[in-house]
Amino acid sequence: MKSAILFSFIISRSSTILLLPDVLINAIYSFFEGLLYFACGIDVFGGLPVSNDSLTITDNRTGRTYELAINDNTIRANDLRQIKVDADDFGLMTYDPSFMSTAACRSAITFIDGERGILRYRGYPIEQLAEKSSFLEVAYLLNEGALPDQEQFDRWTDKIKNHTYVHTNIIKFLEGFRYDAHPMGMMLSAVSALSTFYPDAKNIKDPENRYLQRVRLLAKAPTIAAFAFRHSRGLPFVFPDNDLDYVGNFVNMTFSIGGRHKPNPVLQRALEVLFVLHADHEQNCSTSAVRAVGSSHVDLFSAVSAGVAALYGPLHGGANEAVIKMLDEIGSVQNVPNFIKEVKEGKRKLMGFGHRVYKSYDPRAKLIKRIADEVFDQTGLNPKLKIALELERIALEEDYFVSRKLYPNVDFYSGLIYQAMGYPTDYFTVLFALGRMPGWLAQWEEMLLDDDQKIARPRQIYTGSEERPYVPMEKRKTSVTA
Ligand code: CMC
Repeated sequence: MKSAILFSFIISRSSTILLLPDVLINAIYSFFEGLLYFACGIDVFGGLPVSNDSLTITDNRTGRTYELAINDNTIRANDLRQIKVDADDFGLMTYDPSFMSTAACRSAITFIDGERGILRYRGYPIEQLAEKSSFLEVAYLLNEGALPDQEQFDRWTDKIKNHTYVHTNIIKFLEGFRYDAHPMGMMLSAVSALSTFYPDAKNIKDPENRYLQRVRLLAKAPTIAAFAFRHSRGLPFVFPDNDLDYVGNFVNMTFSIGGRHKPNPVLQRALEVLFVLHADHEQNCSTSAVRAVGSSHVDLFSAVSAGVAALYGPLHGGANEAVIKMLDEIGSVQNVPNFIKEVKEGKRKLMGFGHRVYKSYDPRAKLIKRIADEVFDQTGLNPKLKIALELERIALEEDYFVSRKLYPNVDFYSGLIYQAMGYPTDYFTVLFALGRMPGWLAQWEEMLLDDDQKIARPRQIYTGSEERPYVPMEKRKTSVTA
């Protein structure tokens, strides 16, 4: 009986379509079709079975209705492609410049709840890792998925130590830079240069090979970073000392003058905690760069150098350097209100404030503020801290910042600490890169193991000229622009 009603409905629909405009007919019939199915006792809308975890879309151009599955609070953008005006139509796409609302992968590495200010690596709260973990332990956690037991940790540490040296030609390569070359430029070039020293890294299909390259890069990153530091200062390079731990070795390679450097344990632990806080941050700009470039199946070193390049920018990791420049420019606490006024007028940005994901206080910034107190206890107060605190105090009271949910991010206070430790401003982002390395490595590996992933290749909405014939040079008018 139900199918008879449906059948007669469909027949009458085809004959009426001849008399009225298509869109109108489709809309009217979709409506009645829905009612009819409903009357027939079928739990449907527009002729499609409706489940609770789904999204029903009506295309008002055609009046057709579609049901899209919702999984993990997400629809598959590709499911929209079935929505077409006619058979020749390519199908509907989403327009999401800068990925404001697009999940590009499934990931088990880092969890962020931006509204509640929560950050966890592999389920562990950042606060606990910052208090209890070493950086290499966190690197293991991010890459292996679990905290290591003692034996696993010792093996991991040994492997890293085996690879801390770089080919001596890397030294010649770094020596080729001008004395005032930005250390991030040196870092990103040297990381990509590693691909020429390890052509075996092209074999990305072999898990053991991928592991070896990840260990290599994690081990060599501090050596390269330290060499860039020494080059900027005209100091001879200090080679890795494998009796030291990961962070201790890095500190020694940067600061040693004629013999092993005697580190201040509070400052060294502070640097280690800063590395932990930077170790991963899900699909940020640099990690997305590593994943996108890695999706072409290029070697790890080339993929990660793309991440270092992305981090260099002032809206990302370069913000720590930009904050210090901003504080220098403000000069004194008295100038803060005027600076804030300029920010509110849209003339300036308050560097170190705001975040794509955090819409409350960045949990890393909270921890960094605490580290700053410990560091300044040792080094004396960084005079710029007063300006930073005043900026934060005023900003957190101003509607401009409150209504936009702009809070200090990881970069607001980190530069002040790096400066107190003796690192020059243009070196801060290199320190961020060292911290982020394990995250890039883990995300690269996860991307390659993910069957859903293919080469990253977004679509576009073409806004250029229609087809036009080639005009020979002599016939072109200078006033005509492309
Ligand atoms: N100062 C003044 N206004 C800001 C700031 C800021 N730092 N950040 C965002 N806004 C305003 C922005 O102008 C916009 O206002 P309106 O709605 O009137 O147009 C609104 O807040 C939303 O900002 P958005 O630019 O749409 O936000 P986004 O998610 O695209 O950008 C951000 C995020 C981090 C790039 C941005 O907040 C920013 O440029 N901050 C300063 C640079 C910085 O500190 N970067 C480090 C980020 S954390 C570490 C890392 O990931 O590397």
